[in-house]
Amino acid sequence: MSNKIDAFATPPQPYWMASTGSTDYPALEEDIKVDVAIVGGGLVGITAAYLLKGENLDVAVIEADRIGQGTTGHTTAKITSQHSLIYDKLIKHLGRERARQYAEANEYAIFFIEKLVKQKKIDCDFSHQAAYVYTQQDQYVKQIEDEAKAAASLGIRAHYLEQIPLPFDVKAAVRFDNQAQFHPRKYLLALTEDITGRGGRIFEQTRAVDFREGDPFTIITEGGHKVRAERVIMASHFPAYGGSGYYFARMYPERSYAIAITAEEKFSGGMYITAESPGRSLRSTPYQGSELIIISGEHHKTGQGPPTESHYLNLARFAEQTFTVTGMPFRWSTQDYTTLDEVPYVGRLTSKSPNVYVATGFRKWGMTNGTAAAILLRDLIVKGKSPWEEVYNPARFEADPMVKKFITANLDVVKQMAAGKLKKAPAAAEPAPGEAAVVSGKEGKVGLYKDKEGRLHAVDLTCPHMGCELAWNGAELSWDCPCHGSRFTYEGDIIEGPALKPLRAGGDKFNP
Ligand SMILES: Cc1cc2nc3c(=O)[nH]c(=O)nc-3n(C[C@H](O)[C@H](O)[C@H](O)COP(=O)(O)OP(=O)(O)OC[C@H]3O[C@@H](n4cnc5c(N)ncnc54)[C@H](O)[C@@H]3O)c2cc1C
Ligand code: FES
Repeated sequence: MSNKIDAFATPPQPYWMASTGSTDYPALEEDIKVDVAIVGGGLVGITAAYLLKGENLDVAVIEADRIGQGTTGHTTAKITSQHSLIYDKLIKHLGRERARQYAEANEYAIFFIEKLVKQKKIDCDFSHQAAYVYTQQDQYVKQIEDEAKAAASLGIRAHYLEQIPLPFDVKAAVRFDNQAQFHPRKYLLALTEDITGRGGRIFEQTRAVDFREGDPFTIITEGGHKVRAERVIMASHFPAYGGSGYYFARMYPERSYAIAITAEEKFSGGMYITAESPGRSLRSTPYQGSELIIISGEHHKTGQGPPTESHYLNLARFAEQTFTVTGMPFRWSTQDYTTLDEVPYVGRLTSKSPNVYVATGFRKWGMTNGTAAAILLRDLIVKGKSPWEEVYNPARFEADPMVKKFITANLDVVKQMAAGKLKKAPAAAEPAPGEAAVVSGKEGKVGLYKDKEGRLHAVDLTCPHMGCELAWNGAELSWDCPCHGSRFTYEGDIIEGPALKPLRAGGDKFNP
Protein backbone atom coordinates (compact mmCIF):
# COMPACT_ATOMS: atom_id res chain seq x y z
CA MET A 1 0.00 0.00 0.00
CA SER A 2 1.16 3.51 -0.81
CA ASN A 3 2.93 5.50 1.88
CA LYS A 4 0.75 8.51 0.89
CA ILE A 5 -2.10 7.36 3.11
CA ASP A 6 -1.78 10.35 5.48
CA ALA A 7 -5.26 9.92 7.00
CA PHE A 8 -4.38 6.65 8.76
CA ALA A 9 -2.03 8.54 11.08
CA THR A 10 -4.89 10.53 12.63
CA PRO A 11 -8.42 9.72 13.87
CA PRO A 12 -11.10 9.66 11.14
CA GLN A 13 -12.49 13.08 10.23
CA PRO A 14 -14.82 13.96 7.35
CA TYR A 15 -13.62 16.59 4.89
CA TRP A 16 -16.95 18.39 5.46
CA MET A 17 -16.12 18.93 9.15
CA ALA A 18 -12.43 19.73 8.61
CA SER A 19 -13.33 22.47 6.13
CA THR A 20 -16.00 24.29 8.20
CA GLY A 21 -16.03 25.85 11.66
CA SER A 22 -18.12 24.45 14.50
CA THR A 23 -21.27 26.16 15.73
CA ASP A 24 -21.64 27.51 19.26
CA TYR A 25 -25.34 27.87 20.06
CA PRO A 26 -26.26 27.87 23.77
CA ALA A 27 -27.69 24.93 25.67
CA LEU A 28 -31.29 25.22 26.90
CA GLU A 29 -31.20 26.62 30.44
CA GLU A 30 -34.94 27.20 31.12
CA ASP A 31 -38.39 25.79 30.32
CA ILE A 32 -39.85 27.08 27.04
CA LYS A 33 -43.06 26.85 25.02
CA VAL A 34 -43.03 26.96 21.20
CA ASP A 35 -45.29 26.23 18.24
CA VAL A 36 -42.94 23.56 16.85
CA ALA A 37 -40.05 21.79 18.59
CA ILE A 38 -37.62 19.89 16.38
CA VAL A 39 -35.45 17.21 17.97
CA GLY A 40 -32.19 16.97 15.98
CA GLY A 41 -30.18 19.48 13.98
CA GLY A 42 -29.12 17.49 10.92
CA LEU A 43 -30.25 18.10 7.36
CA VAL A 44 -33.84 17.14 8.14
CA GLY A 45 -34.23 19.16 11.36
CA ILE A 46 -32.57 22.29 10.00
CA THR A 47 -34.44 22.21 6.67
CA ALA A 48 -37.73 21.71 8.53
CA ALA A 49 -36.89 24.58 10.91
CA TYR A 50 -36.05 26.82 7.94
CA LEU A 51 -39.37 26.01 6.23
CA LEU A 52 -41.52 26.36 9.35
CA LYS A 53 -39.86 29.63 10.29
CA GLY A 54 -40.93 30.76 6.80
CA GLU A 55 -44.52 30.09 7.94
CA ASN A 56 -44.06 32.51 10.86
CA LEU A 57 -44.16 29.75 13.42
CA ASP A 58 -42.19 29.90 16.66
CA VAL A 59 -39.61 27.12 16.15
CA ALA A 60 -36.92 25.66 18.42
CA VAL A 61 -34.33 23.05 17.43
CA ILE A 62 -33.04 20.86 20.27
CA GLU A 63 -29.68 19.33 19.31
CA ALA A 64 -27.87 16.80 21.54
CA ASP A 65 -24.44 17.74 20.24
CA ARG A 66 -23.62 20.40 17.60
CA ILE A 67 -25.54 21.18 14.39
CA GLY A 68 -24.68 19.07 11.33
CA GLN A 69 -22.15 16.80 12.97
CA GLY A 70 -24.26 13.63 12.83
CA THR A 71 -24.79 11.61 9.68
CA THR A 72 -25.19 14.84 7.69
CA GLY A 73 -21.62 15.82 8.61
CA HIS A 74 -20.35 12.42 7.44
CA THR A 75 -22.38 11.84 4.27
CA THR A 76 -21.13 11.77 0.66
CA ALA A 77 -23.69 14.48 -0.22
CA LYS A 78 -24.83 13.45 -3.67
CA ILE A 79 -28.10 15.25 -4.36
CA THR A 80 -29.90 12.80 -6.56
CA SER A 81 -33.14 10.95 -7.16
CA GLN A 82 -30.97 8.02 -8.29
CA HIS A 83 -30.90 5.81 -5.21
CA SER A 84 -29.04 2.78 -6.56
CA LEU A 85 -31.57 0.24 -7.94
CA ILE A 86 -34.96 1.30 -6.57
CA TYR A 87 -37.61 2.39 -9.11
CA ASP A 88 -38.23 -0.99 -10.72
CA LYS A 89 -38.65 -2.49 -7.21
CA LEU A 90 -40.93 0.34 -6.09
CA ILE A 91 -43.21 -0.06 -9.11
CA LYS A 92 -43.38 -3.84 -8.61
CA HIS A 93 -43.88 -3.79 -4.82
CA LEU A 94 -45.70 -0.54 -4.06
CA GLY A 95 -47.38 0.22 -7.39
CA ARG A 96 -46.85 2.93 -9.98
CA GLU A 97 -48.59 5.73 -8.04
CA ARG A 98 -46.39 5.42 -4.94
CA ALA A 99 -43.26 4.99 -7.08
CA ARG A 100 -44.26 8.19 -8.90
CA GLN A 101 -44.63 10.03 -5.58
CA TYR A 102 -41.15 8.88 -4.52
CA ALA A 103 -39.59 9.97 -7.83
CA GLU A 104 -41.38 13.31 -7.77
CA ALA A 105 -40.44 14.04 -4.14
CA ASN A 106 -36.76 13.37 -4.79
CA GLU A 107 -36.58 15.23 -8.11
CA TYR A 108 -38.34 18.16 -6.44
CA ALA A 109 -35.79 18.07 -3.60
CA ILE A 110 -32.95 18.62 -6.11
CA PHE A 111 -34.82 21.59 -7.57
CA PHE A 112 -35.56 22.94 -4.05
CA ILE A 113 -31.92 22.78 -2.91
CA GLU A 114 -30.70 24.43 -6.12
CA LYS A 115 -33.30 27.19 -5.83
CA LEU A 116 -32.34 27.89 -2.21
CA VAL A 117 -28.62 27.91 -3.01
CA LYS A 118 -29.24 30.47 -5.77
CA GLN A 119 -31.76 32.60 -3.84
CA LYS A 120 -29.64 32.81 -0.67
CA LYS A 121 -26.35 32.83 -2.61
CA ILE A 122 -25.10 29.93 -0.49
CA ASP A 123 -21.45 29.20 -1.23
CA CYS A 124 -21.55 25.41 -0.85
CA ASP A 125 -19.75 23.97 -3.89
CA PHE A 126 -23.12 23.11 -5.48
CA SER A 127 -22.69 21.73 -9.01
CA HIS A 128 -24.80 19.80 -11.47
CA GLN A 129 -23.59 16.26 -12.09
CA ALA A 130 -24.94 13.16 -13.77
CA ALA A 131 -25.54 10.20 -11.43
CA TYR A 132 -24.61 6.68 -12.56
CA VAL A 133 -25.32 3.18 -11.23
CA TYR A 134 -22.95 0.70 -12.88
CA THR A 135 -22.18 -3.00 -12.79
CA GLN A 136 -19.15 -5.10 -13.66
CA GLN A 137 -21.13 -8.34 -13.29
CA ASP A 138 -23.37 -9.99 -15.92
CA GLN A 139 -26.06 -10.86 -13.37
CA TYR A 140 -26.91 -7.17 -12.80
CA VAL A 141 -27.23 -6.15 -16.46
CA LYS A 142 -30.93 -6.99 -16.70
CA GLN A 143 -31.66 -5.16 -13.41
CA ILE A 144 -29.93 -2.05 -14.75
CA GLU A 145 -31.92 -2.24 -17.99
CA ASP A 146 -35.13 -2.58 -15.98
CA GLU A 147 -34.12 0.32 -13.72
CA ALA A 148 -33.47 2.63 -16.69
CA LYS A 149 -36.91 1.79 -18.12
CA ALA A 150 -38.68 2.10 -14.76
CA ALA A 151 -37.09 5.47 -13.92
CA ALA A 152 -37.78 6.86 -17.41
CA SER A 153 -41.40 5.71 -17.15
CA LEU A 154 -41.72 7.84 -13.99
CA GLY A 155 -40.48 10.96 -15.77
CA ILE A 156 -36.81 10.84 -14.71
CA ARG A 157 -34.21 11.55 -17.41
CA ALA A 158 -32.63 8.07 -17.22
CA HIS A 159 -30.48 6.47 -19.95
CA TYR A 160 -29.10 2.95 -20.35
CA LEU A 161 -25.34 2.83 -21.18
CA GLU A 162 -22.57 0.31 -21.70
CA GLN A 163 -19.69 2.64 -20.84
CA ILE A 164 -19.10 5.26 -18.16
CA PRO A 165 -16.42 7.95 -17.86
CA LEU A 166 -14.48 6.12 -15.05
CA PRO A 167 -11.16 4.45 -15.99
CA PHE A 168 -12.44 0.84 -16.09
CA ASP A 169 -14.85 -1.27 -18.13
CA VAL A 170 -18.39 -1.90 -17.01
CA LYS A 171 -21.06 -4.34 -18.22
CA ALA A 172 -23.92 -1.86 -17.99
CA ALA A 173 -24.94 1.41 -16.37
CA VAL A 174 -27.86 3.77 -15.99
CA ARG A 175 -27.31 7.54 -15.98
CA PHE A 176 -29.69 10.11 -14.46
CA ASP A 177 -29.19 13.61 -15.87
CA ASN A 178 -29.42 16.95 -14.09
CA GLN A 179 -28.55 15.68 -10.63
CA ALA A 180 -26.19 17.54 -8.27
CA GLN A 181 -23.68 17.51 -5.43
CA PHE A 182 -22.67 19.97 -2.71
CA HIS A 183 -20.80 20.53 0.55
CA PRO A 184 -23.48 19.53 3.08
CA ARG A 185 -22.20 21.53 6.05
CA LYS A 186 -21.67 24.77 4.12
CA TYR A 187 -25.29 24.46 2.99
CA LEU A 188 -26.63 23.56 6.43
CA LEU A 189 -24.72 26.23 8.34
CA ALA A 190 -26.07 28.90 5.94
CA LEU A 191 -29.65 27.70 6.62
CA THR A 192 -28.93 27.71 10.35
CA GLU A 193 -27.85 31.36 10.24
CA ASP A 194 -30.98 32.21 8.28
CA ILE A 195 -33.19 30.51 10.90
CA THR A 196 -31.65 32.31 13.89
CA GLY A 197 -31.55 35.57 11.90
CA ARG A 198 -35.34 35.37 11.68
CA GLY A 199 -35.83 34.60 15.39
CA GLY A 200 -35.76 30.79 15.31
CA ARG A 201 -34.04 29.27 18.32
CA ILE A 202 -31.34 26.61 18.28
CA PHE A 203 -30.16 24.88 21.44
CA GLU A 204 -27.02 22.77 21.20
CA GLN A 205 -25.66 20.26 23.71
CA THR A 206 -29.27 19.75 24.77
CA ARG A 207 -30.27 16.10 24.55
CA ALA A 208 -33.95 15.20 24.65
CA VAL A 209 -34.24 12.27 27.07
CA ASP A 210 -37.88 11.98 28.08
CA PHE A 211 -41.19 12.65 26.40
CA ARG A 212 -44.81 13.17 27.50
CA GLU A 213 -47.59 12.83 24.95
CA GLY A 214 -50.34 15.41 25.28
CA ASP A 215 -51.40 18.78 24.00
CA PRO A 216 -48.95 20.41 24.23
CA PHE A 217 -46.36 17.64 23.88
CA THR A 218 -43.53 17.89 26.45
CA ILE A 219 -39.87 17.12 25.82
CA ILE A 220 -37.60 16.84 28.84
CA THR A 221 -33.92 17.52 28.31
CA GLU A 222 -30.92 15.91 30.00
CA GLY A 223 -30.53 19.15 31.97
CA GLY A 224 -34.08 18.72 33.32
CA HIS A 225 -35.72 21.55 31.34
CA LYS A 226 -39.08 21.23 29.62
CA VAL A 227 -39.89 22.14 26.04
CA ARG A 228 -43.66 22.32 25.51
CA ALA A 229 -44.78 22.39 21.89
CA GLU A 230 -47.99 22.25 19.86
CA ARG A 231 -46.17 20.08 17.31
CA VAL A 232 -42.96 18.07 17.56
CA ILE A 233 -40.74 16.68 14.80
CA MET A 234 -38.42 13.77 15.61
CA ALA A 235 -35.54 14.58 13.26
CA SER A 236 -32.93 12.82 15.39
CA HIS A 237 -31.94 10.30 12.69
CA PHE A 238 -33.24 7.40 14.78
CA PRO A 239 -36.42 8.84 16.39
CA ALA A 240 -35.56 9.76 19.99
CA TYR A 241 -39.21 9.05 20.81
CA GLY A 242 -41.08 6.37 18.86
CA GLY A 243 -44.36 6.08 20.77
CA SER A 244 -45.95 2.76 19.89
CA GLY A 245 -44.31 2.82 16.44
CA TYR A 246 -41.72 0.02 17.05
CA TYR A 247 -39.21 1.90 14.90
CA PHE A 248 -36.29 -0.12 16.29
CA ALA A 249 -37.88 -3.31 14.98
CA ARG A 250 -38.73 -2.10 11.49
CA MET A 251 -35.43 -0.52 10.46
CA TYR A 252 -31.83 -1.73 10.53
CA PRO A 253 -28.64 0.37 10.69
CA GLU A 254 -25.78 -0.03 8.23
CA ARG A 255 -22.36 1.62 8.43
CA SER A 256 -20.30 2.64 5.40
CA TYR A 257 -16.81 4.09 5.01
CA ALA A 258 -15.37 6.92 2.93
CA ILE A 259 -11.87 8.03 1.97
CA ALA A 260 -10.95 11.29 0.21
CA ILE A 261 -7.90 11.08 -2.04
CA THR A 262 -5.88 13.40 -4.26
CA ALA A 263 -4.74 11.86 -7.56
CA GLU A 264 -2.59 12.67 -10.56
CA GLU A 265 -5.58 12.19 -12.89
CA LYS A 266 -8.37 14.71 -13.11
CA PHE A 267 -11.68 13.15 -12.04
CA SER A 268 -14.06 12.62 -14.96
CA GLY A 269 -17.00 14.38 -13.26
CA GLY A 270 -20.22 12.59 -12.40
CA MET A 271 -21.32 10.62 -9.33
CA TYR A 272 -21.17 6.83 -9.35
CA ILE A 273 -22.33 3.82 -7.38
CA THR A 274 -22.10 0.08 -8.02
CA ALA A 275 -25.19 -2.12 -8.28
CA GLU A 276 -23.27 -4.98 -6.64
CA SER A 277 -21.46 -5.55 -3.35
CA PRO A 278 -18.99 -4.62 -2.05
CA GLY A 279 -20.46 -1.21 -2.81
CA ARG A 280 -18.25 1.44 -4.35
CA SER A 281 -19.40 5.05 -4.67
CA LEU A 282 -17.40 7.92 -6.21
CA ARG A 283 -17.67 11.69 -6.58
CA SER A 284 -15.26 14.62 -6.43
CA THR A 285 -15.29 17.92 -4.57
CA PRO A 286 -13.22 21.12 -4.91
CA TYR A 287 -10.17 21.15 -2.59
CA GLN A 288 -7.34 23.68 -2.26
CA GLY A 289 -7.57 24.83 -5.89
CA SER A 290 -7.71 21.23 -7.08
CA GLU A 291 -10.04 18.38 -6.10
CA LEU A 292 -10.59 15.46 -3.78
CA ILE A 293 -12.02 12.21 -5.07
CA ILE A 294 -14.35 10.73 -2.47
CA ILE A 295 -14.64 6.95 -2.57
CA SER A 296 -17.08 5.24 -0.23
CA GLY A 297 -18.59 1.82 0.34
CA GLU A 298 -17.92 -1.36 2.37
CA HIS A 299 -21.33 -1.31 4.04
CA HIS A 300 -22.18 -3.71 6.86
CA LYS A 301 -24.70 -3.90 9.69
CA THR A 302 -23.58 -1.80 12.67
CA GLY A 303 -21.77 -3.82 15.35
CA GLN A 304 -21.38 -6.81 13.04
CA GLY A 305 -18.77 -8.15 10.61
CA PRO A 306 -14.95 -8.21 10.46
CA PRO A 307 -12.69 -5.71 12.27
CA THR A 308 -13.78 -2.31 11.00
CA GLU A 309 -10.25 -1.09 10.15
CA SER A 310 -10.28 -3.53 7.19
CA HIS A 311 -12.95 -1.45 5.44
CA TYR A 312 -10.75 1.64 5.11
CA LEU A 313 -7.90 -0.55 3.81
CA ASN A 314 -10.18 -2.11 1.16
CA LEU A 315 -11.23 1.35 -0.06
CA ALA A 316 -7.60 2.52 -0.15
CA ARG A 317 -6.71 -0.57 -2.22
CA PHE A 318 -9.56 0.17 -4.67
CA ALA A 319 -8.37 3.80 -4.93
CA GLU A 320 -4.83 2.69 -5.79
CA GLN A 321 -6.09 0.21 -8.39
CA THR A 322 -8.20 2.93 -10.04
CA PHE A 323 -6.16 6.15 -9.75
CA THR A 324 -2.57 7.31 -9.29
CA VAL A 325 -3.08 8.31 -5.67
CA THR A 326 -0.93 11.21 -4.43
CA GLY A 327 -2.50 11.58 -0.97
CA MET A 328 -5.37 10.54 1.25
CA PRO A 329 -5.98 13.44 3.62
CA PHE A 330 -9.38 12.33 4.99
CA ARG A 331 -11.32 9.23 5.93
CA TRP A 332 -14.55 8.81 7.85
CA SER A 333 -17.50 6.51 8.37
CA THR A 334 -21.14 6.79 9.32
CA GLN A 335 -24.44 4.92 9.37
CA ASP A 336 -27.99 5.18 8.15
CA TYR A 337 -31.20 3.18 8.69
CA THR A 338 -33.12 1.17 6.08
CA THR A 339 -36.83 0.45 6.43
CA LEU A 340 -38.76 -2.72 5.57
CA ASP A 341 -39.62 -1.58 2.03
CA GLU A 342 -36.59 0.73 1.58
CA VAL A 343 -38.78 3.87 1.61
CA PRO A 344 -38.22 6.27 4.55
CA TYR A 345 -40.82 6.76 7.29
CA VAL A 346 -41.97 10.39 7.08
CA GLY A 347 -45.21 11.69 8.53
CA ARG A 348 -47.19 11.29 11.74
CA LEU A 349 -45.22 9.18 14.23
CA THR A 350 -48.13 6.75 14.69
CA SER A 351 -51.84 6.96 14.00
CA LYS A 352 -52.27 7.59 17.77
CA SER A 353 -49.90 10.60 17.94
CA PRO A 354 -51.56 13.42 16.00
CA ASN A 355 -49.08 16.15 16.96
CA VAL A 356 -45.79 14.21 16.67
CA TYR A 357 -44.02 13.74 13.34
CA VAL A 358 -41.01 11.68 12.27
CA ALA A 359 -38.52 11.48 9.41
CA THR A 360 -36.16 8.51 9.40
CA GLY A 361 -34.90 5.47 7.46
CA PHE A 362 -33.21 7.26 4.56
CA ARG A 363 -31.16 4.24 3.35
CA LYS A 364 -28.15 6.48 2.67
CA TRP A 365 -30.18 8.78 0.44
CA GLY A 366 -31.16 11.44 2.96
CA MET A 367 -30.00 14.57 1.13
CA THR A 368 -32.98 14.46 -1.24
CA ASN A 369 -35.25 12.18 0.83
CA GLY A 370 -34.47 14.31 3.93
CA THR A 371 -35.19 17.56 2.08
CA ALA A 372 -38.42 16.07 0.70
CA ALA A 373 -39.23 14.93 4.27
CA ALA A 374 -38.87 18.47 5.63
CA ILE A 375 -41.14 19.81 2.85
CA LEU A 376 -43.68 17.02 3.48
CA LEU A 377 -43.73 17.70 7.24
CA ARG A 378 -44.09 21.46 6.69
CA ASP A 379 -47.09 20.71 4.46
CA LEU A 380 -48.65 18.31 6.98
CA ILE A 381 -48.23 20.83 9.80
CA VAL A 382 -49.38 23.87 7.84
CA LYS A 383 -51.90 22.45 5.32
CA GLY A 384 -52.74 19.06 6.87
CA LYS A 385 -51.74 17.19 3.70
CA SER A 386 -48.90 16.51 1.25
CA PRO A 387 -48.91 15.03 -2.26
CA TRP A 388 -46.23 12.54 -1.10
CA GLU A 389 -47.68 11.46 2.24
CA GLU A 390 -48.98 8.10 1.05
CA VAL A 391 -45.65 6.61 -0.08
CA TYR A 392 -43.75 7.82 3.02
CA ASN A 393 -46.54 7.20 5.57
CA PRO A 394 -44.86 5.63 8.66
CA ALA A 395 -48.14 3.85 9.51
CA ARG A 396 -48.22 2.00 6.20
CA PHE A 397 -47.42 -1.33 7.91
CA GLU A 398 -49.63 -0.94 10.99
CA ALA A 399 -52.33 -3.33 9.77
CA ASP A 400 -49.98 -5.80 8.04
CA PRO A 401 -49.96 -9.17 9.91
CA MET A 402 -46.62 -10.11 8.28
CA VAL A 403 -45.04 -7.03 9.81
CA LYS A 404 -46.47 -7.80 13.26
CA LYS A 405 -44.87 -11.25 12.93
CA PHE A 406 -41.60 -9.63 11.83
CA ILE A 407 -41.60 -7.28 14.83
CA THR A 408 -42.24 -10.19 17.24
CA ALA A 409 -39.40 -12.17 15.62
CA ASN A 410 -37.14 -9.13 15.95
CA LEU A 411 -37.98 -8.76 19.65
CA ASP A 412 -37.11 -12.46 20.15
CA VAL A 413 -33.72 -11.93 18.48
CA VAL A 414 -33.04 -9.00 20.82
CA LYS A 415 -33.97 -11.14 23.85
CA GLN A 416 -31.62 -13.90 22.66
CA MET A 417 -28.80 -11.44 22.01
CA ALA A 418 -29.34 -9.87 25.41
CA ALA A 419 -29.27 -13.37 27.00
CA GLY A 420 -26.15 -14.29 24.99
CA LYS A 421 -24.15 -11.68 26.84
CA LEU A 422 -24.47 -13.69 30.05
CA LYS A 423 -22.08 -16.28 28.60
CA LYS A 424 -18.62 -15.88 30.04
CA ALA A 425 -16.18 -13.93 27.95
CA PRO A 426 -12.99 -15.80 27.08
CA ALA A 427 -10.23 -15.03 29.57
CA ALA A 428 -8.51 -11.95 28.26
CA ALA A 429 -5.44 -10.13 29.40
CA GLU A 430 -5.48 -6.36 29.75
CA PRO A 431 -5.35 -4.86 26.24
CA ALA A 432 -2.19 -3.31 24.81
CA PRO A 433 -2.18 0.51 24.39
CA GLY A 434 -4.52 1.52 21.54
CA GLU A 435 -6.44 -1.78 21.78
CA ALA A 436 -9.65 -3.08 23.36
CA ALA A 437 -10.72 -6.30 25.04
CA VAL A 438 -13.88 -7.82 26.46
CA VAL A 439 -13.64 -9.49 29.87
CA SER A 440 -16.11 -11.09 32.28
CA GLY A 441 -16.93 -8.79 35.16
CA LYS A 442 -18.87 -9.43 38.36
CA GLU A 443 -22.24 -8.64 36.72
CA GLY A 444 -21.66 -9.27 33.02
CA LYS A 445 -19.23 -8.29 30.36
CA VAL A 446 -16.95 -5.29 30.60
CA GLY A 447 -15.33 -3.54 27.66
CA LEU A 448 -11.80 -2.30 28.20
CA TYR A 449 -9.93 0.17 26.05
CA LYS A 450 -6.38 1.22 26.86
CA ASP A 451 -5.56 4.60 25.34
CA LYS A 452 -2.17 5.47 23.82
CA GLU A 453 -1.09 7.00 27.17
CA GLY A 454 -1.81 3.70 28.93
CA ARG A 455 -5.03 4.77 30.74
CA LEU A 456 -7.64 2.03 30.99
CA HIS A 457 -11.29 2.89 30.24
CA ALA A 458 -13.83 0.29 31.43
CA VAL A 459 -17.52 0.29 30.51
CA ASP A 460 -20.40 -2.10 31.10
CA LEU A 461 -21.11 -3.60 27.66
CA THR A 462 -24.89 -3.84 28.17
CA CYS A 463 -26.61 -1.54 25.70
CA PRO A 464 -28.91 0.80 27.69
CA HIS A 465 -31.50 0.64 24.87
CA MET A 466 -32.67 -2.98 25.14
CA GLY A 467 -29.78 -4.87 26.67
CA CYS A 468 -27.83 -6.30 23.72
CA GLU A 469 -24.08 -6.70 24.08
CA LEU A 470 -21.90 -4.09 22.40
CA ALA A 471 -19.04 -4.88 20.02
CA TRP A 472 -15.74 -3.03 19.60
CA ASN A 473 -15.32 -0.79 16.54
CA GLY A 474 -11.56 -0.44 16.19
CA ALA A 475 -11.70 2.04 13.30
CA GLU A 476 -13.71 4.62 15.26
CA LEU A 477 -12.72 3.55 18.82
CA SER A 478 -16.35 3.09 19.81
CA TRP A 479 -18.60 0.39 21.31
CA ASP A 480 -21.39 -0.37 18.80
CA CYS A 481 -24.67 -2.23 19.29
CA PRO A 482 -25.47 -5.01 16.80
CA CYS A 483 -29.21 -4.83 17.56
CA HIS A 484 -30.32 -1.30 16.60
CA GLY A 485 -27.14 0.69 16.09
CA SER A 486 -26.57 2.65 19.31
CA ARG A 487 -22.91 3.72 19.55
CA PHE A 488 -20.84 4.94 22.49
CA THR A 489 -17.37 6.38 23.02
CA TYR A 490 -14.91 4.21 24.93
CA GLU A 491 -15.75 6.36 27.94
CA GLY A 492 -19.42 5.39 27.56
CA ASP A 493 -20.91 8.63 26.17
CA ILE A 494 -23.67 8.35 23.55
CA ILE A 495 -22.56 8.95 19.96
CA GLU A 496 -25.78 8.02 18.17
CA GLY A 497 -28.68 5.57 17.91
CA PRO A 498 -31.76 4.83 19.99
CA ALA A 499 -30.07 4.77 23.43
CA LEU A 500 -30.90 7.78 25.58
CA LYS A 501 -28.54 6.94 28.45
CA PRO A 502 -24.75 6.58 28.48
CA LEU A 503 -23.02 3.29 29.36
CA ARG A 504 -22.52 2.44 32.99
CA ALA A 505 -18.92 2.60 34.19
CA GLY A 506 -17.40 -0.88 34.22
CA GLY A 507 -14.49 -0.33 36.59
CA ASP A 508 -16.26 -1.61 39.72
CA LYS A 509 -17.42 -4.74 37.90
CA PHE A 510 -14.00 -5.65 36.58
CA ASN A 511 -11.33 -7.58 38.48
CA PRO A 512 -8.16 -7.75 36.39
C1 LIG B 1 -21.89 6.49 4.23
C2 LIG B 1 -23.10 7.30 3.90
C3 LIG B 1 -23.12 8.04 2.74
C4 LIG B 1 -24.24 8.80 2.42
N1 LIG B 1 -24.26 9.48 1.25
C5 LIG B 1 -25.38 10.11 0.86
C6 LIG B 1 -25.46 10.76 -0.39
O1 LIG B 1 -24.49 10.79 -1.15
N2 LIG B 1 -26.63 11.33 -0.74
C7 LIG B 1 -27.71 11.28 0.07
O2 LIG B 1 -28.78 11.74 -0.33
N3 LIG B 1 -27.66 10.72 1.30
C8 LIG B 1 -26.52 10.13 1.70
N4 LIG B 1 -26.47 9.54 2.92
C9 LIG B 1 -27.61 9.64 3.83
C10 LIG B 1 -27.69 10.97 4.54
O3 LIG B 1 -26.39 11.42 4.89
C11 LIG B 1 -28.55 10.84 5.80
O4 LIG B 1 -29.72 10.15 5.48
C12 LIG B 1 -28.91 12.21 6.35
O5 LIG B 1 -27.72 12.93 6.59
C13 LIG B 1 -29.72 12.06 7.63
O6 LIG B 1 -29.97 13.34 8.12
P1 LIG B 1 -30.73 13.49 9.51
O7 LIG B 1 -30.97 14.93 9.70
O8 LIG B 1 -31.89 12.56 9.53
O9 LIG B 1 -29.72 12.90 10.59
P2 LIG B 1 -28.43 13.53 11.27
O10 LIG B 1 -27.63 14.33 10.34
O11 LIG B 1 -27.74 12.38 11.95
O12 LIG B 1 -29.02 14.51 12.35
C14 LIG B 1 -29.69 14.05 13.50
C15 LIG B 1 -29.29 14.92 14.66
O13 LIG B 1 -30.09 14.59 15.78
C16 LIG B 1 -29.31 14.70 16.94
N5 LIG B 1 -29.93 13.89 18.00
C17 LIG B 1 -29.99 12.55 18.09
N6 LIG B 1 -30.65 12.17 19.21
C18 LIG B 1 -31.02 13.31 19.84
C19 LIG B 1 -31.72 13.58 21.06
N7 LIG B 1 -32.17 12.60 21.84
N8 LIG B 1 -31.91 14.88 21.41
C20 LIG B 1 -31.47 15.90 20.61
N9 LIG B 1 -30.79 15.68 19.45
C21 LIG B 1 -30.57 14.40 19.07
C22 LIG B 1 -27.94 14.20 16.52
O14 LIG B 1 -26.92 14.69 17.38
C23 LIG B 1 -27.84 14.73 15.10
O15 LIG B 1 -27.16 15.97 15.03
C24 LIG B 1 -25.35 8.80 3.28
C25 LIG B 1 -25.33 8.06 4.46
C26 LIG B 1 -24.23 7.30 4.77
C27 LIG B 1 -24.26 6.47 6.00
S1 FES C 1 -30.32 -2.86 22.19
FE1 FES C 1 -31.19 -1.48 20.78
S2 FES C 1 -29.55 -0.23 20.20
FE2 FES C 1 -28.68 -1.59 21.60
